[in-house]
Amino acid sequence: MKIRTKITTVYVVLAILMVAAIGIFTSLWMESFFKIQLVNELSRQADLVLYILREDSTRSFTQIDEQIKKVSGLEHLRVTLIDDRGNVIADSDIPLAEITRVENHLERPEVQEAKRMGIGHDIRRSATVDRDFLYMAKEIRKPLNSSHFRNLRYIRLSSPYEQVQRQIDQIRSIVIIIGFLALLAIIIVSIFVSRRITHPMAQIVKGVEQIRLGELDARVPVKSKDEIGLAATAINELVDKLNSDIIQLKKLEQVRSQFLGNVSHELRTPIFSAQGYLETLLGGAINDPSVNRSFIEKAQNNLNRLHTLLEDLINISQIESGEMKMSFRIFYANEFIESVFKEFQSLAVNRNLTLRLVMSTKPEDEIFGDRERLRQVLNNLLSNAINYNKPGGEVVLSSERTGTGIQISVKDTGVGIPQEHISRIFERFYRVDSDRSRELGGTGLGLAIVKHIIEAHGSHVDVESKAGEGSTFWFVLKSG
Ligand SMILES: Nc1ncnc2c1ncn2[C@@H]1O[C@H](COP(=O)(O)OP(=O)(O)OP(=O)(O)O)[C@@H](O)[C@H]1O
Ligand SMILES: [Mg+2]
Repeated sequence: MKIRTKITTVYVVLAILMVAAIGIFTSLWMESFFKIQLVNELSRQADLVLYILREDSTRSFTQIDEQIKKVSGLEHLRVTLIDDRGNVIADSDIPLAEITRVENHLERPEVQEAKRMGIGHDIRRSATVDRDFLYMAKEIRKPLNSSHFRNLRYIRLSSPYEQVQRQIDQIRSIVIIIGFLALLAIIIVSIFVSRRITHPMAQIVKGVEQIRLGELDARVPVKSKDEIGLAATAINELVDKLNSDIIQLKKLEQVRSQFLGNVSHELRTPIFSAQGYLETLLGGAINDPSVNRSFIEKAQNNLNRLHTLLEDLINISQIESGEMKMSFRIFYANEFIESVFKEFQSLAVNRNLTLRLVMSTKPEDEIFGDRERLRQVLNNLLSNAINYNKPGGEVVLSSERTGTGIQISVKDTGVGIPQEHISRIFERFYRVDSDRSRELGGTGLGLAIVKHIIEAHGSHVDVESKAGEGSTFWFVLKSG
């Protein structure tokens, strides 16, 4: 069932119940109101008749009877006088001659009630005229002086009830008509209201459908600040978020395919070179003693290069996919740094460079980290400091305690990095001078690996460089 139908149904059912309740209540209330009104009226008339009877003690019974008949005729009332045993003494509708034949009235409900309470009434159908009448009887507590009415005990007045009934019916039909009109109005209003409620929802559904079909720029209209408006806003925010996620995914996809392109390009170079040397050798150069050895060495160098490249690639893909397992341990800073330093000494000497070690950390100072990964970091930084240096230059490896841990830095007096490149050197495959780098066997993965490893240690790499003067790379590690 649609919400609209549900709302309308609830409204209509409520309205029907309400209108019916009001109708029943008013007609019940009206009936008793009119009845009480009539009883009061008859009671007053009875007092009037009694007054006449009391005052006029001079006239004969027949004269009085006639007068009662006249008064009742004027007022369209029937007056009955009843004695203490229930016998009818006089009746405005019955000729005096026939009065003795009228049956005893003591058992009439209104007389019984008057006997008990002083006043009583009853509504019933008169058998003689076949019409509904309201009968009101009153007990006369103070006996009359008149000799004719010494035994008079009850005065009963009755009036046709149809008129009242008709009036009630009239009002009731007005109530019914008004009820129907109200019902109609409520139905129309409820249809309108439910449409107002469901229309924005339908629009939301339409908008969501559009988005579902791929129109990611489509938005759901927000027309109010109520729950529906909030829902629409939430949907729009969700779509915005999805859109930005999609953009990010696309970017990632682009980076990935770029990476693949770079990888295949970098792999191709050493493979082709090695292939070239080997083919030349097989083509006859193997027998030329002046070149054969150096060609084989060159082929081997290229294959070595391929090997390191593949290792770097494996490293970086492991790091980036989160597969790289770090094994954190506490170890001595000085001992670690010295061991790395020793490995690079001969390389520096070969390149005509001075490699210095400046340790202001104490032998017992400890580092908390992955020793092998950190060795890889220093290898990369020291290789760069040596590779991008100038003849006769210097490389300083140093360590010191800072407030937050152990700081390790690699400083060189090399070519430096122009300011505009600094922000990009940590990107994979990024090289400032690709020719020089490639010549040195670089692919631009070293610093990307360094960055990832240091970040995995909850730290970051800083760099300061001036083109032509040299660079310093440093990072701080947690102390043990
Ligand atoms: N100490 C340095 N002095 C000058 N330039 C540097 C220094 N370190 C890095 N660079 C520049 O940053 C680039 C990126 O360095 P990175 O170590 O990532 O790659 P690479 O050395 O070219 O290759 P790889 O390290 O993968 O063999 C280098 O190509 C170089 O241009
Ligand atoms: Mg490098």
